[in-house]
Amino acid sequence: MALRVGIVGANGFLGGELVRLLSAHPEVRLAALVAGRSAGQQLSSLRPGLRGPADAVLEAFDADALAAACEVVFLALPHGESGVAGAALRQRGVRVVDLGSDFRLRDPADHVRFYGREPTAPELLDEAVYCLPELTGPPPPLAGLIASPGCFATALLLTLAPLQDGLGPEGVTVFGATGSSGSGVAPSAGVHHSLRMTSFTGYKTLAHQHLGEVGQALAARGPAPRLRFVPHSLPVARGILLTTVIPEGQLGGASALERLTAAYADAALVDVVQGEVPLGAVQHSVRTLIGVVERGGDTVIYTAIDNLLKGGSGQAVQSLNLAQGWSETLGLPVVGSWP
Ligand SMILES: NC(=O)c1ccc[n+]([C@@H]2O[C@H](COP(=O)([O-])OP(=O)(O)OC[C@H]3O[C@@H](n4cnc5c(N)ncnc54)[C@H](OP(=O)(O)O)[C@@H]3O)[C@@H](O)[C@H]2O)c1
Repeated sequence: MALRVGIVGANGFLGGELVRLLSAHPEVRLAALVAGRSAGQQLSSLRPGLRGPADAVLEAFDADALAAACEVVFLALPHGESGVAGAALRQRGVRVVDLGSDFRLRDPADHVRFYGREPTAPELLDEAVYCLPELTGPPPPLAGLIASPGCFATALLLTLAPLQDGLGPEGVTVFGATGSSGSGVAPSAGVHHSLRMTSFTGYKTLAHQHLGEVGQALAARGPAPRLRFVPHSLPVARGILLTTVIPEGQLGGASALERLTAAYADAALVDVVQGEVPLGAVQHSVRTLIGVVERGGDTVIYTAIDNLLKGGSGQAVQSLNLAQGWSETLGLPVVGSWP
């Protein structure tokens, strides 16, 4: 029998991708689509691209109704909202996969440091399983609360984890570039077409909030290297490209190409190649593409993901697949579409 699944935040960018993926997933039946201010409206009236078999009137959040209808609920909500919704659902025994940031950091002090506020559901931080399958392994079978990583965090961790035990005291500098869909569906100066599509700028320099979960995940594997992360706003809609620069003498032992190739030799969704990689190659797919250039002793690593898929909804479904004991890639687009 199909697993009954709900999506909260179904009209958002990640929620919409979940609707698209899960409505075609062979082991899932979409049982509830929930929104905030848009409750009562037809999903396709807000997101015409989601017209199709899953199209429905969006419901308001009601934990009892969701518990009656769903075994698993995905939360694709703004920071702070997932804690409230997640706590209400866990109290009712519903399994939760959260795509937001409320359950990623284990230490309440880190919530204040990186998000400027106390966690909304501190009692659930111990239960939450941070799941980036290629690094953390699969979640426990039928895990009750999965915290799916952030988009930049996913790309940073897939790049740095295989290198961290060889990096010297200078650490590493990473330049990130992300598309406008990373900012969500609501219009703002950061996503306004006229402003964004005609420019290119850095932001949150050395202070991006994903540094919290990256530091936490790296520290769980060994001494965390010093990381200087400089994000930029790309004039494209979807995708992340990281550029990691490691000067000669800063990486001991095996080369970056050897380390990354060995780390992902058995990974179905991560490819490591020599040379530059284009962002377009991973758009609309859940694949990660890592390109390595080693020249004159220096190393540059390019890491490309689709922020809405490997950096968001696709990875969350990948984790659900593993928690259910299904094939890791079930229902996921493993091949990209460019342009
Ligand atoms: N975009 C990305 O690339 C990306 C990647 C990884 C993780 N994330 C994280 O995932 C989460 C969702 O991101 P997004 O980009 O999809 O955001 P988004 O496009 O802004 O969508 C947010 C959704 O949450 C709904 N919502 C807000 N408050 C609600 C409430 N109290 N009850 C029910 N629904 C409510 C909104 O519905 P209404 O419009 O009806 O209010 C909307 O559907 C965020 O925490 C984000 O940081 C985003």
